[in-house]
Amino acid sequence: MEIVFIDSNDKQRSLYRIYLENILEDCVVHEFFSLKNAHKFLENRSDKGERPFTFVLANTNGRDGDLGEFYESFHQKFKTTPFVIFSEDPVDLISGMDSFFSHHPQNSHIQLPISPADFREKVLGVVYPDRMNLTAVKAFQKVRLFNFYRFNKPQCHVYIKLSKMKYVKVFNQGVKYSRADLDRLKIKEVDYLYIRNEDFQKFQVNFFRNNFLEFDADVATPDELQEKLEFTHAMLHELVLNLGFSEDAIELTEKSLEAIFGIVDKDLNLSDLLRRFRGQDDYLYDHSYLTSVIACDLLRKMNWWNEERMEILGFAALFHDITIKNPMLAKITDKRDEELKKYSEKEVKKYLKHPLEAFELILEYPNIPSKVAEIICQHHESPEGDGFPNSLRPINIDPLSAVFIMAHDFVNALEKHEYDEEKLDFIVNAMRSRYDVGPFKLPLRAFLSRYKAAA
Ligand SMILES: [Fe+2]
Ligand SMILES: [Fe+2]
Repeated sequence: MEIVFIDSNDKQRSLYRIYLENILEDCVVHEFFSLKNAHKFLENRSDKGERPFTFVLANTNGRDGDLGEFYESFHQKFKTTPFVIFSEDPVDLISGMDSFFSHHPQNSHIQLPISPADFREKVLGVVYPDRMNLTAVKAFQKVRLFNFYRFNKPQCHVYIKLSKMKYVKVFNQGVKYSRADLDRLKIKEVDYLYIRNEDFQKFQVNFFRNNFLEFDADVATPDELQEKLEFTHAMLHELVLNLGFSEDAIELTEKSLEAIFGIVDKDLNLSDLLRRFRGQDDYLYDHSYLTSVIACDLLRKMNWWNEERMEILGFAALFHDITIKNPMLAKITDKRDEELKKYSEKEVKKYLKHPLEAFELILEYPNIPSKVAEIICQHHESPEGDGFPNSLRPINIDPLSAVFIMAHDFVNALEKHEYDEEKLDFIVNAMRSRYDVGPFKLPLRAFLSRYKAAA
């Protein structure tokens, strides 16, 4: 059973998706925050008969379009698929919905706010209009693993399902878990965690009230901040890869960047920073975060600092490797790296395309500065002119990309030497001989004035 669900509020959509997945067994929910994206998706499905979906659930808040127009074109193509409006406004206040209820017997309206029990009744009424008896609510409710990145301390016990009857506790009520704990489950391909039905009410309240991802950089300790940023980064990658950049995703990114800039503002202490990363196992996150901090710090040293440039570099740092799934691949910067020989031809090909893939993903969003996409596209170009994907000569590399490339290279070198400060001298000297060319000259000067003394 497939459902199309359009709602631009990430938190609300995630919660109602949890409900849907518990009400309807084995349903696949296609989520959208924008009507335009949902429309594109439906267009591609229109050759699969008149009812490729069980129903469409659409909030009036869907971005990039008008619900009335969206419904009109939907109704033309999918006359036998029920359409459910999900909104605070009654249907007669929504334009373009005049004959809505007469088009299909199961077309309906879910008035928000609604209790989970009433939502369940409404949904079952749409899917099984002729049902005679009530289906029992299961003893355990499932929640996608991804949702647990929104907080780090559950208000109830959380379980993993081993078999139809067997559930084992993975997180205890009130006890913190880390991003690495969730990542380990993800690697084992655990898609869902489970909560006892009687705890579900608590979970929902917690889910909505939780402000874990809203942080105040001034109050948090560096460790707390790092913890929050790690969770946020994981959430953001999930959100963006599955749905693209919704407004909520962009807002979350901006909040992360604000926190990161706060760190740069407090006069960056490299020793502290390196100490925190030693022994960490989450390279994708570590190097995105460190690259943003080092790049913004260089910008400041160069007197190029302004909010717009900081945001551009920070944004690029958080998303430049978004299409890389294997953290080991993110450690490779050079297309001739011997490490690449360990991977199949297909994996290498995909890896060599990752700057372009992320470039194309970001370019689709007009509210993200196009410079972000450009930097991402160039992040594996090199001062020798033999980088990828375009083997750009240094003269053709954007000056802001040059700052990014240097910061990224520096962070990779630090990681290769296990964040050992003793190796700083060696790393800085290698950078000095490589980067004294074209657009790299200015950031190199700032880099040397920053790290020569440390080396
Ligand atoms: Fe990278
Ligand atoms: Fe990369």
